[in-house]
Amino acid sequence: MKRTALVTGASSGIGAELARVFAANGFDLVITARRRDRLEALAAELHDRHGCCVHVIAADLADPSAPSRIAREVAEAGLQVDALVNNAGYGLPGSFLSSPWESHRAFIQVMVTAIVELCRLFAPGMVERRRGWIINVGSVAGLVPATAGHTLYGAVKALVIRFSESLALELRPHGVQVTALCPGFTYSEFHDVNRMRAQVSRLPSFLWLHADRVAREGYDAVMRGDRVFVNGRVYRAIVLGARLAPTWLVNLASRKMAPRFRRT
Ligand SMILES: NC(=O)c1ccc[n+]([C@@H]2O[C@H](COP(=O)([O-])OP(=O)(O)OC[C@H]3O[C@@H](n4cnc5c(N)ncnc54)[C@H](OP(=O)(O)O)[C@@H]3O)[C@@H](O)[C@H]2O)c1
Repeated sequence: MKRTALVTGASSGIGAELARVFAANGFDLVITARRRDRLEALAAELHDRHGCCVHVIAADLADPSAPSRIAREVAEAGLQVDALVNNAGYGLPGSFLSSPWESHRAFIQVMVTAIVELCRLFAPGMVERRRGWIINVGSVAGLVPATAGHTLYGAVKALVIRFSESLALELRPHGVQVTALCPGFTYSEFHDVNRMRAQVSRLPSFLWLHADRVAREGYDAVMRGDRVFVNGRVYRAIVLGARLAPTWLVNLASRKMAPRFRRT
């Protein structure tokens, strides 16, 4: 039986590339996001290129009923999910206090609750079959010290990473691999959505990753069974430096760097 991967946030950026990588490796796909037209274009591309079956589900993960609806549609289509890729995500523009509570609530729903719920919905089937792969897309922002203006983003990514590490330990004896994939700055629509394009465009090119590489490395990492994977030598050095350097120095460096990629 062919394996199936469910990818959230597949309508652009890293998610679209993750869908391409899973398709290239012989998986059928369930792809979801809000923009159905984008998903259908990707489904046609993957079918033409790899001959795989692609099931499209348009869903807004800010809606608390979305994860269970996705699971229901998957079951009704007679599919089982062998690989789950929780990739959908975004950044809120501006500072914590400049957004109303409703925006933060929706943000937490998409960035935390939906991810955890989708894991809770699909991991039992993987455990039962003693085979499965889960990628939760975190960020380098969840591994480095807190910065002003990234107030909730770094916090939710830190939660996703820690949750993924624990889930990996819980599920590995049952044949299920879990990886927190942690990219740094990556070319995608992310910085248009959080309205930081002009500011981050001034960052040096060595800090930028390409979404296809992030996706390829993420696929390899979960297949290898890495619990946390940071893309790129530069970011691995930054994460290591943040861990090993004295706290005062790390905090000073992050206070100096943060205004270059974040408005407060
Ligand atoms: N780009 C970076 O620099 C960077 C760095 C580290 C981590 N990340 C993480 O990588 C992941 C993918 O981001 P990206 O860079 O590829 O950005 P992107 O190009 O903007 O893609 C984000 C994806 O998430 C989907 N999405 C957003 N809100 C959603 C919602 N409410 N319901 C359902 N789907 C939703 C979008 O689809 P629709 O708009 O069609 O719904 C889109 O497919 C995110 O988790 C992000 O936090 C990005």
